[in-house]
Amino acid sequence: MTRKPPPVESRRISRCSGLRRLAFHLEESAVSIESQPPGPIHRTVLRDEVLAWLAPREGSVIVDGTVGAGGHAKVLAQGVGTQGRVIGLDRDPEMLALAEQTTQGLPVTLVHAPYSELDEVLARLGLDGIDGIVLDLGLSSDQLHWRHRGFSFGTDGPLDMRFDTTEGETAADLVNHLREEDLANIFFQYGEERYSRRVARRIVEARRIEPITTTARLADLVRRSIPGKWGPIDPATRVFQALRIKVNEELDHLDSTLARLPDLLRPGGRAAIISFHSLEDRRVKVAFRENARLNALTRKPVTATAAELADNPRARSAKLRVAERCPN
Ligand SMILES: C[S@@+](CC[C@H](N)C(=O)[O-])C[C@H]1O[C@@H](n2cnc3c(N)ncnc32)[C@H](O)[C@@H]1O
Repeated sequence: MTRKPPPVESRRISRCSGLRRLAFHLEESAVSIESQPPGPIHRTVLRDEVLAWLAPREGSVIVDGTVGAGGHAKVLAQGVGTQGRVIGLDRDPEMLALAEQTTQGLPVTLVHAPYSELDEVLARLGLDGIDGIVLDLGLSSDQLHWRHRGFSFGTDGPLDMRFDTTEGETAADLVNHLREEDLANIFFQYGEERYSRRVARRIVEARRIEPITTTARLADLVRRSIPGKWGPIDPATRVFQALRIKVNEELDHLDSTLARLPDLLRPGGRAAIISFHSLEDRRVKVAFRENARLNALTRKPVTATAAELADNPRARSAKLRVAERCPN
């Protein structure tokens, strides 16, 4: 039997395990919130397309598994009416604080949890299925912009890169402790960096002298490892992407969730997934094509219109794929 979603009054941000409230994390955090811009700077990618494909109706229960600054969640929540609900998950407490502002007054429940724990989150909310889910993968412009989070090679900051700053190993932990061969494999596998071995060797030589703890030092080491002139893309781009994917085990979260989609979605329910690089897009494409309980609705990925690209160049690599859960 389908249970009703919790009422709007119970809207809150909670941690998946143990119902720890986000406010608790923020009070304890050493991060200076004053150093952040007042509102989100992230521009929601393919917003109208996600809304059209998920087509929320009165009473729909929709999950935004990567709620970020709440751009998709807001428009989806405007369509679910008073009986429906959007459940917004994020691993990053600071992003949830932005989503809280963006979705104020709307039927949105924010949860501090990875989307790979969606089963547990839904069980705790008393929901036994969903009508739609959106995943907008990767990181937001806000996270990239926040120097203290260590995602950017463009500014100096601590070499962190965790989406969830409350747990797990940082990029500095990996860079200073992994074997040279393991580092090279990460750069090759997740960044498709052809000079992966050279970069790993230089990192290991440098860390013998002094641990690598900042984004600027790592970016400088990478740039000095890559021979020849740079093209339009900074040579640090691929290594930073690879480390971020590894630190957050991004592909593991995606794989396990793709496998669970047919059980999470109600018959006719839809999954809309936006990816930003081929490692992700390939997985989504294969999962949608090969799962007999899913029907891929987009044969080719949906990409941004010229108007969106003119407004938001970050949308140029976004690829949206949509699948529908087959009837029982
Ligand atoms: C591109 S942003 C989403 C932006 C959002 N759609 C918007 O319009 O504002 C991606 C977000 O996903 C979060 N994230 C990444 N991996 C996650 C995971 N496995 N589970 C939950 N959130 C995740 C990041 O912390 C980030 O806030």
